[in-house]
Amino acid sequence: MTIAIPPTNAPDSVFEEFWLQCPLRIARGTTRDVFEIPGHPDKVLKVLTRQSNFANWAEIVTYITTTDKSFFAEVYSWSWSGRFLVMERLGPITLQDLAGQKTPQFVNDKKPSNFGKDKAGRIKALDYAALDLSPHPLHHFPASFDEAVE
Ligand SMILES: Nc1ncnc2c1ncn2[C@@H]1O[C@H](COP(=O)(O)OP(=O)(O)OP(=O)(O)O)[C@@H](O)[C@H]1O
Ligand SMILES: [Mg+2]
Repeated sequence: MTIAIPPTNAPDSVFEEFWLQCPLRIARGTTRDVFEIPGHPDKVLKVLTRQSNFANWAEIVTYITTTDKSFFAEVYSWSWSGRFLVMERLGPITLQDLAGQKTPQFVNDKKPSNFGKDKAGRIKALDYAALDLSPHPLHHFPASFDEAVE
């Protein structure tokens, strides 16, 4: 039987039940543990191990708001608090895989372990919680506004 992935914003209690069905931890980062999801080899469950849920939220907001999502492992769903995040599972890469590839400049932490390969062989970021949101280029408001228009 394939276990169902809880929908976005499901209560943490629902994700806790789901987590119990994902016993195989594939990696441990400084802020998150990452688990295989039985029956879903294309996805992982990322669970915050710290008090703050910041890292998952940073990825959720980045994925939702970025205009070109092709550089990022897809975000599928997350718990109400953000402690749990279901993300596309990427395969491991070698340094040679990364050579000559591109990633958005605003991805702050460009260490190789933060990147992986999707099913089609495309290189994507799998840890994009650290951002460097440069203000440039700046948006220029018009030099004058028509007062009648809000
Ligand atoms: N989407 C994914 N697909 C495959 N493996 C992943 C994925 N996300 C994370 N991992 C694995 O789990 C490890 C830790 O995840 P991640 O880097 O997101 O956590 P972190 O706590 O932010 O780590 P750190 O701050 O130590 O870089 C990654 O280095 C990678 O090996
Ligand atoms: Mg990382």
